[in-house]
Amino acid sequence: MSKEKLIIFDTTLRDGEQSPGAAMTAEEKLRIAKALERMKVDIIEAGFPVSSEGDFAAVQGIARTIKDSVICGLARANKLDIDKAGEALKDANASRIHTFIATSPLHMREKLFMEPDEVVEQAVKSVKLARQYTDNIEFSPEDAGRSELDFLCRIIEQVIDAGATTINIPDTVGYNLPEQYGNTIRQLIERVPNSDKAIFSTHCHNDLGLAVANSLAGVMNGARQVECSVNGLGERAGNAALEEIVMAVRTRQDLFSCDVSVDSTQIMTCSKLVSSITGFAIQPNKAIVGANAFAHESGIHQDGVLKSRETYEIMLAEDVGLSSNKIVLGKLSGRSAFKNRLEALGVELDGEQELNSAFRKFKDLADKKSEIFDEDIHAILSDFQVTEAVNEVVELVSLKASSETGEVPEASITLVYDGTEQSASATGGGPVDAVFTAIESIVSSTANLKLYSVNNVTEGTDSLGEVTVRLELGGRVVNGLGADTDIVKASAKAYVNALNKLLVPSEKIHPREALDGV
Ligand code: KIV
Ligand code: ZN
Repeated sequence: MSKEKLIIFDTTLRDGEQSPGAAMTAEEKLRIAKALERMKVDIIEAGFPVSSEGDFAAVQGIARTIKDSVICGLARANKLDIDKAGEALKDANASRIHTFIATSPLHMREKLFMEPDEVVEQAVKSVKLARQYTDNIEFSPEDAGRSELDFLCRIIEQVIDAGATTINIPDTVGYNLPEQYGNTIRQLIERVPNSDKAIFSTHCHNDLGLAVANSLAGVMNGARQVECSVNGLGERAGNAALEEIVMAVRTRQDLFSCDVSVDSTQIMTCSKLVSSITGFAIQPNKAIVGANAFAHESGIHQDGVLKSRETYEIMLAEDVGLSSNKIVLGKLSGRSAFKNRLEALGVELDGEQELNSAFRKFKDLADKKSEIFDEDIHAILSDFQVTEAVNEVVELVSLKASSETGEVPEASITLVYDGTEQSASATGGGPVDAVFTAIESIVSSTANLKLYSVNNVTEGTDSLGEVTVRLELGGRVVNGLGADTDIVKASAKAYVNALNKLLVPSEKIHPREALDGV
């Protein structure tokens, strides 16, 4: 018997971008959208078009490029937001407008200053307005997790009558427990008279670490769409992690009466892309995508797996895109072996020129490091796409840094800035600190360093170091990335990359600010 479809609605580019510090440029959002499309995600929530001209352009760009996934834009329940979303989505192959208004007594009283009747009226009006742009309309009663069931039934019945085709039930502050959330979904489906005319959806936040459990409880009780994000990115503690939802439903098909159509082998590539663009590292013990998720350390487990894989493994590493043979390439590997490996990892580059540049980076690395792992290839690609994509205002020419026992660390740097080559030297607490000070003595950006992190891509001291630098200036936050076997050089590249994003004028403000006071 064929199963019902469970729709995967990805909100990495909208709710995910609302994570503090997870700033993305329009080009980066498009790169993630392409990876989500390759993963066959059903719906991509591309952004919140009214929040800034930059986000409008990002949603528009995604709507014009992505063909196989439905593109969704978020809008508060008002005319300005809905018109902006409709306009941004105009050229999409298939579009959805997602409109929302708060329904909990607390939000209506303290935030909206509206009576319940006014909220219903506003919601109905907004859904009707949104229908002028598309017949695919999602409505969310914000803070549904703390709303009264009778009121939810009332507003949902009316928005379905007005033309909403998906009803999303956000546990906005991650307050619900699984049984309670599942019960809410079941009761809504049972009690709303026209509930058969809409698909019910989950949207769970992870404040109590229950986002995935709550979402799955919703599915067990009749929800047929899950809103989730890659690596669980999202406001505060985040959203339900897409990779966990997909693999839970796939692995426990004995318990679910529905199935997803996502290509799970793309999970790893997508997860690494989102992590490197946002600068949010993945904890090693993170389910599905953490470095240890498929590792067996104890002798008993290793012995068991060797005798029969199922003794300690419930999923195949290959099913999430991890290769079983981890040493993949080396110094003697040619361009076609490299290209084959990219294809196996589900990575698509834009034409021969991009492939040639990536291959050159691979060869450079192979000269320094004898064994090239999949993780190295992912890091090369992030580093290469970062430097290829950004309009360079600042360019790193050369760097010298010294650290000696009993001496103050020192660095000298040469950059091209403002079209001219300029050099500077500085001292610091360590060589990286000295490099950053030297760069700033040329550029004088006055930016605040919000995050500096180094991640060893593979084991061993010859590993590539992947560095993230987060800078903030006047409320704008950018993430810079650099990868190199020399971590001082990787740090300089990451700092320069962040400056290149910061020094390009942008209309994009953080979507959280646009939501402030709403
Ligand atoms: O968490 C939430 O309530 C949201 C809505 C905008 C759906 O993200
Ligand atoms: Zn949310």
